[in-house]
Amino acid sequence: MTPIRTFEDFRDAVSAYRLPRILITALELNLFTVISGRSWTVPTLARRLRVSRRGLDILCRNLTSIGLLKKQGSSYRNGPLGSGELNAKSPRYRGAYLRLLKNHWVDWSHLTEQVRSGKPLEDDEPDAAAYRREFTWAMHHRSMEVAPKVAAQVDIKGAQTFLDLGGGPGTYALAFLAKNPRLQATVADRAPALEVAREIAATVSQGNRLSYVPVDFVRQTIPGTYDVIWYSNVLHIYSPEENRQVFRRAAAALNPGGRLLIQDAFLQDADGLYPQEANLFAVTMLLFTKRGNTYTVKETTTWLRLAGFVRVRPVQLRAGTGDWDGGILEASLPVRRPRSRARRGQSAKNSSARSRR
Ligand SMILES: C[S@@+](CC[C@H](N)C(=O)[O-])C[C@H]1O[C@@H](n2cnc3c(N)ncnc32)[C@H](O)[C@@H]1O
Repeated sequence: MTPIRTFEDFRDAVSAYRLPRILITALELNLFTVISGRSWTVPTLARRLRVSRRGLDILCRNLTSIGLLKKQGSSYRNGPLGSGELNAKSPRYRGAYLRLLKNHWVDWSHLTEQVRSGKPLEDDEPDAAAYRREFTWAMHHRSMEVAPKVAAQVDIKGAQTFLDLGGGPGTYALAFLAKNPRLQATVADRAPALEVAREIAATVSQGNRLSYVPVDFVRQTIPGTYDVIWYSNVLHIYSPEENRQVFRRAAAALNPGGRLLIQDAFLQDADGLYPQEANLFAVTMLLFTKRGNTYTVKETTTWLRLAGFVRVRPVQLRAGTGDWDGGILEASLPVRRPRSRARRGQSAKNSSARSRR
């Protein structure tokens, strides 16, 4: 985004709400689904949608000018996105994520109150099963295209066991399973999210290599041990203290030499300003979580080292192919676990005993 320097820049930045508002109105009216595979004149479509001709005419002209609708004579039809991802009658429909985006419009309108109170709109990550299922489907609809691109570039060769921690729909676990035919994966999350993961896994052949672990990893130990733990889009939900705790639990659940891969909206500069998308995402966390935020690569690296990880490095993906810009950190445990203080003490005693003999 360009910096705001003049009053005109400011006006243009504020007025940027217009296009998002038009898109959300189109979704609220179910416009793309109703148009589906047909061509419609404005009067017929207005009758079908029960809206004014004048309103629909202006809406359709705007949607056509940005390529979502196509105009032929006096009729409109869907472009490829409108007839696919935005159309409830299409197998490509991303309904759950579209509903989340629509709700965000309303939620973001309360931002001033959230800045005043510092508290989220609702309880952090509500545990109601219906909410959790809908959110989990939304996460699948958000990442189903990007996950295979990420899995294609993140090298986990040699790993036999993979944990998708906070994996929700398991979209990433399934993408890594598809890329790595000998891999066994586990998705750990809350029970209603795991139900969705099972439903999705049942539709693909690699799904039979996926297992499920219900756990609250902020409160409980992570069951099992793994070669790789994938922790994607969870870091930002929690406070620094909670994240440090999760890193300790992840280290305990990794085999020697194991790797924790963290995908998140990392801030890349020391002042925590850029990329802007990561900074904007912190606002989403203010709205929806009690203690969440976005974090710099530097502070996350410090937490990882405190948890016992010895090598921390960014994983570079081809531009435009990741979930976030520069958004993956890889942290490795030593191949041999450092001896604990107690054992070191014991072996020091043994060696001094030996030297006395
Ligand atoms: C934003 S979603 C990310 C889903 C997936 N990892 C992805 O990248 O698309 C966060 C997930 O973490 C799960 N989660 C958050 N905190 C958790 C906890 N303490 N225990 C178990 N699961 C948790 C949520 O239920 C949700 O499925």
